[in-house]
Amino acid sequence: MTEHDLSHLHVAVTGGAQGIGAATARRLAARGAAVSIGDVDVPATTAQAAAIAAAHGRGRCFAAELDVRAEPDFRRFLAAAGDFHGTAIDVMVNNAGIMLVGPFREEAVALTDKQLAVNVGGVVNGTRVALEVFEDRGSGHVVNIASVAGRNAFANIATYTGTKHFVYGFTEALRSEYSGTGIEFTTVLPNIAKTRLGSGVSGVKMVRKSDPEDIAEAIVAAIASPAPATYIPRTLAPLSGLAQAVPSAVRDRVFGLLGADRALVDTDDAEREAYDEVLGR
Ligand SMILES: NC(=O)c1ccc[n+]([C@@H]2O[C@H](COP(=O)([O-])OP(=O)(O)OC[C@H]3O[C@@H](n4cnc5c(N)ncnc54)[C@H](O)[C@@H]3O)[C@@H](O)[C@H]2O)c1
Repeated sequence: MTEHDLSHLHVAVTGGAQGIGAATARRLAARGAAVSIGDVDVPATTAQAAAIAAAHGRGRCFAAELDVRAEPDFRRFLAAAGDFHGTAIDVMVNNAGIMLVGPFREEAVALTDKQLAVNVGGVVNGTRVALEVFEDRGSGHVVNIASVAGRNAFANIATYTGTKHFVYGFTEALRSEYSGTGIEFTTVLPNIAKTRLGSGVSGVKMVRKSDPEDIAEAIVAAIASPAPATYIPRTLAPLSGLAQAVPSAVRDRVFGLLGADRALVDTDDAEREAYDEVLGR
């Protein structure tokens, strides 16, 4: 087994039908891991699993419908994944997430609730059911996908920003709670990426949009060698730290100079229309 070989691991990825989750599942399978993907989008999940099976062998990927908002579904999903691969999960990647862009006062209550249920509830459910498995065995790794918006705040995505701050705080608190137990926790904090969720969003002008493959590579690296937090791109780690260290007035001024205050304001609504429809906007 080489250091690049992850064939000893069974990794579950939520929201694995497309975007960052699918890219992560493909990379994990390429490194030999047994992969299980769950998603509300059944046709896309099935297609993704078929592509992974075609590239890496039929037994490499388990796929099933999963709505992360429902804890019993999660329990069933992990049980079926364990049966398929003949071994319980070693790593849980809580990736499924949604993002509504727009002024908070124009956000429908149902869509605020949906973001809270998927981005917060889904991560809590996934972490809880994974910990049941990991505590029995005394090892395991929870990887929660937050965002740069989990450490910084951006206009026009207030609810989303709140949910991602939750993911960061929740994961860090558990990392402390489980210190020394053999159970690892990682928070992943990507910049805006070229996926459906990031469509039509300009992001911070000076920082290029990430490819989902770059983020997937960082997630796989964090699985191979567990780290507490991973920013993508890496250069955002010191910048984010600095932004928190300076007084708010200085931060606001620098955000203004960099155009970060407009990062999710100057959006292309036409480009976002298809995704908004999926969200039920
Ligand atoms: N794309 C970005 O700019 C960006 C930046 C930072 C963080 N993130 C985070 O990365 C994660 C993945 O985002 P993405 O860009 O790949 O989005 P995406 O829309 O391309 O993919 C998200 C997947 O999650 C699935 N999903 C949605 N609700 C679900 C539910 N209730 N249960 C199960 N699956 C569900 C969708 O069907 C989809 O397949 C999210 O948590 C997101 O917040 C994305």
